[in-house]
Amino acid sequence: MRVSKKSKVLVTGGTGYIGAHTVVELQQSGFEVVIIDNLSNSDIRIIDQIKTITGITPVFERLDLRDKVGVCAFIQSQPDLEGIIHFAASKSVAESVKDPLLYYDNNICTLINLLNAIKGRPVNLVFSSSCTVYGEPDVLPVNELAPVKKAESPYGNTKQIGEEILKETAHAVAGLKVIALRYFNPVGAHASALIGELPLGVPQNLVPFITQSAIGKRGQITVYGDDYDTADGSCIRDYIHIVDLAKAHVAALKRMEAGQMETVFEIFNVGTGKGNSVLEVVNAFERVTGVKLNYRIGNRREGDIIKIWGDVTKAQNKLGWTAQSNLDDMLASAWAWEKYINENPFQ
Ligand code: NAD
Ligand code: WQD
Repeated sequence: MRVSKKSKVLVTGGTGYIGAHTVVELQQSGFEVVIIDNLSNSDIRIIDQIKTITGITPVFERLDLRDKVGVCAFIQSQPDLEGIIHFAASKSVAESVKDPLLYYDNNICTLINLLNAIKGRPVNLVFSSSCTVYGEPDVLPVNELAPVKKAESPYGNTKQIGEEILKETAHAVAGLKVIALRYFNPVGAHASALIGELPLGVPQNLVPFITQSAIGKRGQITVYGDDYDTADGSCIRDYIHIVDLAKAHVAALKRMEAGQMETVFEIFNVGTGKGNSVLEVVNAFERVTGVKLNYRIGNRREGDIIKIWGDVTKAQNKLGWTAQSNLDDMLASAWAWEKYINENPFQ
């Protein structure tokens, strides 16, 4: 459904994995999109890919959100801005353990710079949070009222802190409304295979490692443990198709634009509500693609939680959003993207 008038939305981190897919959905829903990105973990050619998909070239500003003066100047140049989706951050758990200050600087200072730049303006802001804030849930599926546990990494802590900053600021500053979306495990790629996940270096996440191993860019896959208290012994996650995740951001903006929020700060889980084990993902990939994977069972990975999947009824009821794609769809799209990027390398 197209919005009545072209609301202008700033997408920070908009050439990134989730950002690019969200820009496509925003444009196709009638929003005018402006992107800020410093290209630290993405490629400028994503802008052309978005244009090929939607026919619309988003306005792009290469800017580091740690540049307080630059952020203020840019926001002042956008008097008609109505919405912001804030994706820009660093997202590697392992890297955050090695370099905590990088993560507090890039994930917290950037948020503060953005909030200071928009202070006093009526803005609808969607924040990229993560199910990592739940740690190992006591009850499954985990809902938004579950306790936020002590973060297992500086990265996870930046998401918890980000939520707290936004909650307190939204209650203190008139005009600011915030929806925090707690993503589970985004995987897959756009149906066009023109955009997808561009992991720089060795992928830490399961699905990009699988697709890169399958295409021959990586060696053997290690399944990090099959001695957990689950049906097949491997860890369980709630994998969600990247396009479903992108659509949830559009739904969140529309909720805010329609004045439907019950408080100035709301949280929603964004997942499928179903869990799949690592070995189920491996087997599904082989079945869907016909490609035999080279994998072994290795030791557990430090910091891994055993199982998590989301209670997504709140997003269904209040955002009118439900994930549409299943695991097979996700893996088929991830494989199509891997084959595309292998023939059309960005780096
Ligand atoms: P990504 O790295 O693909 O995208 C992030 C984008 O932000 C990149 O284009 C990068 O260049 C940009 N960026 C980083 N620091 C910046 C800065 N200081 N100034 C301007 N631009 C900057 O990551 P993603 O997977 O698209 O994740 C987007 C958001 O969602 C992040 O906040 C991440 O923490 C969160 N998240 C991701 C996942 C996941 O599994 N991918 C899960 C939960 C939450
Ligand atoms: C999934 C499962 C691994 C790789 C992480 C971050 C989280 C969020 C999403 C940013 C686990 C297993 C993995 C491999 C494996 N990112 N695995 N072999 O750890 O659930 O979440 O990404 O917000 O914050 O923590 O995702 O894809 O790394 O792992 O067996 O080569 O696959 O042990 O059980 P994770 P993941």
